[in-house]
Amino acid sequence: MISDVINAHEIKKVDPVFGQLSFDDHEQVVFCNDKDTGLNAIIGIHNTVLGPALGGTRMWPYNSEWEALNDVLRLSRGMTFKGAITGLNLGGGKAVIIGDAKTQKTPQLMRRFGEFVHTLGGKYITAEDVGMETTDMDVVREVTPYVTGISESNGGAGNPSPITAYGVFMGMKAAAKFKFGSEFLEDKKVWVQGVGHVGESLVENLVNEGADVKITDLNEERLQEVSSKYGVGIYRGHDMYLEDMDIYAPCALGATINDDTIYKIKAKVIAGAANNQLAIEDIHGKILKERGIVYAPDFLINAGGIIHVYAELENFGKQEIIRKTENIYNTTLEILENAKTMGITTQHAAINIAKNRIKKRKKENSK
Ligand SMILES: NC(=O)c1ccc[n+]([C@@H]2O[C@H](COP(=O)([O-])OP(=O)(O)OC[C@H]3O[C@@H](n4cnc5c(N)ncnc54)[C@H](O)[C@@H]3O)[C@@H](O)[C@H]2O)c1
Repeated sequence: MISDVINAHEIKKVDPVFGQLSFDDHEQVVFCNDKDTGLNAIIGIHNTVLGPALGGTRMWPYNSEWEALNDVLRLSRGMTFKGAITGLNLGGGKAVIIGDAKTQKTPQLMRRFGEFVHTLGGKYITAEDVGMETTDMDVVREVTPYVTGISESNGGAGNPSPITAYGVFMGMKAAAKFKFGSEFLEDKKVWVQGVGHVGESLVENLVNEGADVKITDLNEERLQEVSSKYGVGIYRGHDMYLEDMDIYAPCALGATINDDTIYKIKAKVIAGAANNQLAIEDIHGKILKERGIVYAPDFLINAGGIIHVYAELENFGKQEIIRKTENIYNTTLEILENAKTMGITTQHAAINIAKNRIKKRKKENSK
């Protein structure tokens, strides 16, 4: 057997994709390389039973290819569940570009990336994620039709972030109703971690509702901008998890609910936009449940963005986008109640519904 003659480090090398912890029966993983533009990207297609795999492209200076690979595997899986639970005919996919969006992103690189997307013939459809702008999608659109989230002037639906934030706001209200008995967030202490595209819009919704909002971000400029625009406080301490708050809204990157943070968290509700907030779903979801912290599953409440870009594909208008996004409130409440009745984590309750829809469609497709 090959593993008898090589050490564990080598095994990691010979089992680079299917052997990853985050690998969960993904259909296809595509590595894209172009020396001329400096493109190093990975496209993950998790599942296409319900439709083409739609999911944004993230550009991030990953510390290693392993980190990038695991991110794309986790993110694409989440997209499958997001599309399924939202009732959309979409599969799950995602792409990551390894690099610093501020210094390494060029139109040439984005165009080359678009060409790789095109080779998949529509099995994967891209959009923006962290490190991407609507204008980047416009560049991708020059070489492939398999892109959404392009600007309105180019016939697209524009930036999906405000709708994502509105969906998160709806999910947060449902979680508040479940935990506190009222959906109104007036005077609730809400901490928003990461005030980028989505975080800022969420702050706006929360301020309009009268919530007591505090913000954190690694980017000082963003902090100043959002703080002065909405009159919210900036957190200057060194460990926000220890702070007294009602609701924690992770809107930066994933895995912030992990071994280091989980027992510190004082919030009674967690509801935010970031994908894959639970570092290890089974472990950290269970601890939250045991601690009585209500976790609104990320892929459920941050689905506003995908609804928005789906509208671009299906040609439905703003009203229907809003209706579908507002429905996140009902679905969240239903799932939180389901989880309670069944004695399972909210994450599992949500995944079960998503998986059942896919299973049903697979059965129908095979008839
Ligand atoms: N944009 C969308 O429509 C959309 C849809 C669904 C999910 N999401 C997810 O929501 C999250 C935010 O997306 P976005 O589009 O606003 O991204 P963004 O890049 O515009 O904003 C992210 C912000 O988080 C900050 N940040 C990074 N690490 C941080 C840390 N450790 N602590 C505090 N702040 C930190 C960054 O400085 C930045 O301001 C991402 O996880 C993304 O995948 C976004």
